[in-house]
Amino acid sequence: ESMKNFLRDLPKCEHHVHLEGTLEPDLLFHLAKRNNLTLPSGFPSTIEDLQYKYEHFKDLQDFLDLYYAGMSVLLTEQDFEDLAWAYLVKSHDQGLKHVEAFFDPQGHVERGVDMHCVIKGFNKALSRAENEFGMSTKLIMCILRHLPTKNSLETLKNFKPYYEKGWIDGLGMDSTEVGFPPELFEECYAYAKDNLPEGTLLTAHAGEEGDSSVVTRSVNRLNVSRIDHGIHSADDPEVMKMLADNDIMLTVCPLSNKRLNVVQEISEEPIRKFLEYGVPFSINCDDPAYFGGYILDNYMAVQEAFNFDMDTWITIAKNSVRGSILDTERKQVLY
Ligand code: HPA
Ligand code: ZN
Repeated sequence: ESMKNFLRDLPKCEHHVHLEGTLEPDLLFHLAKRNNLTLPSGFPSTIEDLQYKYEHFKDLQDFLDLYYAGMSVLLTEQDFEDLAWAYLVKSHDQGLKHVEAFFDPQGHVERGVDMHCVIKGFNKALSRAENEFGMSTKLIMCILRHLPTKNSLETLKNFKPYYEKGWIDGLGMDSTEVGFPPELFEECYAYAKDNLPEGTLLTAHAGEEGDSSVVTRSVNRLNVSRIDHGIHSADDPEVMKMLADNDIMLTVCPLSNKRLNVVQEISEEPIRKFLEYGVPFSINCDDPAYFGGYILDNYMAVQEAFNFDMDTWITIAKNSVRGSILDTERKQVLY
């Protein structure tokens, strides 16, 4: 219990949360009703049935199928604002001080939703959290690997004005990993490097279901300075050294890994190895509504598995601040 209070009070940063993955069953059904929508055929019809599904994913794709079906209830600017706000309130209660949130524009634009609704709704919620909670917030747009490269490149070009306005701070890449190698998206990352404002973060999901070579290739071919998940980096000491030497942070998501059978137990997470090799990492929630926990829940799950002392936690929290997209001044306030 005292450890829980300690972890709650620790200044925590979230670097890996998909806003669409914060859609809790009750909000999902509420929005479906508000928008007069019938859910896709075969979609669970009660909160309990949906919750049951959330607890029994076979793998990443099994989750993704439900995740894309679920986000179909999001239509209006208000929906996107309500979604993000509910997440921010919960996270604030758990001691979150800084968030870098992902969103998947292609998942909405594809359904005919106006891209401005999406980003305006998110921006409103994030600004409100800055004002009311004193949180710092960033937004990272992700491209979907299962869609054609051309579609992603076009999306990136369409969203360029929002990067220029300072509403988006990074580019990421998510969805199905196996079968969609990073090389397919070289053009998108090269475009981002050459055309988006300086300081735009480049990151990519890699080494979640894919092996450690996906991590290396994402760094070499896409020029990313961060890797999301990256858990399979631990299988190759050379990859671990490369990450440590280049100060590339991994955004680790323990409860997600367990639910998607990337690990069978949290204790299998190679966290001690990351500490030994000096590979920077942070602890994050990924899709908290689907995986059963927000930021503090993930910290607690790690604590239950590893029983770290306070000094180790302080090191983890400091590294997480250090790896954030923040100026030195804000970093000093946080730690
Ligand atoms: N991996 C890949 N794609 C995703 C994830 C993830 O963990 N969450 C949402 N989209
Ligand atoms: Zn993710």
